[in-house]
Amino acid sequence: MASKTSRIFLFLLVMTVSFVVLILSQEYLSKSWTIFSGKHELGWETFPLNINLWGQEEKTAVPPSVSTTAVVETPMPLLYRGNFTKLPQWDFDDVYNQDAPPRPTTCAQSLRNSQDENFKKAFLPNIRLFLHKDNINMSEWNRLSHFNNPFGFMQFKYDDVMASVKLIPKPKEPLLLPKPGGDGCVHCAVVGTAGILNGSKVGAEIDAHDYVFRMNGAVTKGYEEDVGNRTSVYVHTQHSITASRYIFGKYGYKSAPHDEGIKYVLIPEAMRDFQWLEGLFKGNESFSGPHHKKWPGAYYSGQYNENRFYVLHQDFLRYVRNRFLKSPNLNKRFWAIVRPTNGAFALFLALHTCDTVDAYGFMTDEYMKYSNYYFEKYIKSNVIFYANHDYILEKNTWKSFHKRKIIKLYQRTEPETKTETPKQH
Ligand SMILES: *[C@@H]1O[C@H](CO)[C@@H](O)[C@H](O)[C@H]1NC(C)=O
Ligand SMILES: *[C@@H]1O[C@H](CO)[C@@H](O)[C@H](O)[C@H]1NC(C)=O
Ligand SMILES: *[C@@H]1O[C@H](CO)[C@@H](O)[C@H](O)[C@H]1NC(C)=O
Ligand SMILES: *[C@@H]1O[C@H](CO)[C@@H](O)[C@H](O)[C@H]1NC(C)=O
Ligand SMILES: *[C@@H]1O[C@H](CO)[C@@H](O)[C@H](O)[C@H]1NC(C)=O
Repeated sequence: MASKTSRIFLFLLVMTVSFVVLILSQEYLSKSWTIFSGKHELGWETFPLNINLWGQEEKTAVPPSVSTTAVVETPMPLLYRGNFTKLPQWDFDDVYNQDAPPRPTTCAQSLRNSQDENFKKAFLPNIRLFLHKDNINMSEWNRLSHFNNPFGFMQFKYDDVMASVKLIPKPKEPLLLPKPGGDGCVHCAVVGTAGILNGSKVGAEIDAHDYVFRMNGAVTKGYEEDVGNRTSVYVHTQHSITASRYIFGKYGYKSAPHDEGIKYVLIPEAMRDFQWLEGLFKGNESFSGPHHKKWPGAYYSGQYNENRFYVLHQDFLRYVRNRFLKSPNLNKRFWAIVRPTNGAFALFLALHTCDTVDAYGFMTDEYMKYSNYYFEKYIKSNVIFYANHDYILEKNTWKSFHKRKIIKLYQRTEPETKTETPKQH
């Protein structure tokens, strides 16, 4: 009896110590990055109002009568994207909330145990993933109002955004859990829409994963042999879920995936996404809105459930851009529209919620051999490069992650048909 009690005590002690060590190492990681990037810390509360518009911090001392921990009660004045000729650099740009519950690493092969130095330095395993009513307050609002959408709330009015954010329920469970009876690892497939999947016959391999992520115009009916038929997590925006029917209808797309128990993840990319959320959570009273003719929940084919609906946090989106996909186009005049693709955000969501990630249907060096989308089976189209995304940077990132064994990227190399060496960009 006594020895059982002491064993339990010892166990709890070990758990507590490991937890503290984990927290400290997180702290260390974020600090070392802070120093590495030449930035320093500042209290948000005292900061926002004395920045000039061109990103130069004015080192105004805090008036002695104002406590540095005083709570700011009002939204800061709006900043406008048009006032900046390139991405503004704030001292706190690369600082993020990191409060996702730490996950025990029972999975030896987890990407969380990667020994790749650059990945270890950049990766924040417990970065805050989701936005909800309990993790926003005025100082958070003011901090995030420095960053353009979807990385923050620049140019948005407090009341417009908060009308929906204050309705977002706090997620009741993590996005993914290890499957019972499995090996303790969360194995994920993330399926993009690239033409490389046409004729690939990897559908069964994709479906064999614990969880399958898809995004945007993820039509599976009629393409199962190549892309599988399961969807566990569907990543979308208001635009992608409403427009896909019109754009991809001719390829058989009828509605967003709606497998039993599916989890929906929204990227709040623009004001219309917040209006969408407001309609979604208010339910029947708000059937139509400026960007939807019927209740938004009806777009999820009977599978909408508040408990399985997640909204990505601005810190997570900005972290993905800043640490992994910082395009040189952010220094150009059209900087404010430059952002990672929905597919990239979905892949990074998987990197933060899974132990192993296999990516299918993402861009590879041989993209010119394939159509833009896998469902363009009969006429070979060319890959379209939109100015708001840096596809080449993303392509090279996936390839590098694959080489460094962080993900497994499906590249469909068929040596006998390989005729040229990949182009250098
Ligand atoms: C910033 O942009 C706003 C809105 O476009 C404009 O009214 C204002 O004059 C600009 N301010 C500066 C300093 O250019
Ligand atoms: C506001 O939220 C942030 C992030 O969740 C938290 O760190 C901070 O303590 C909160 N501030 C107040 C005054 O509640
Ligand atoms: C997917 O395909 C498998 C095998 O053909 C089948 O058993 C399963 O019911 C399908 N699942 C869905 C969601 O259609
Ligand atoms: C919501 O609207 C639908 C369609 O008009 C109706 O059938 C349903 O009963 C309503 N539900 C609630 C909870 O009011
Ligand atoms: C799609 O795959 C099929 C089967 O491999 C092939 O015959 C067809 O040419 C491919 N379509 C395109 C546009 O590449």
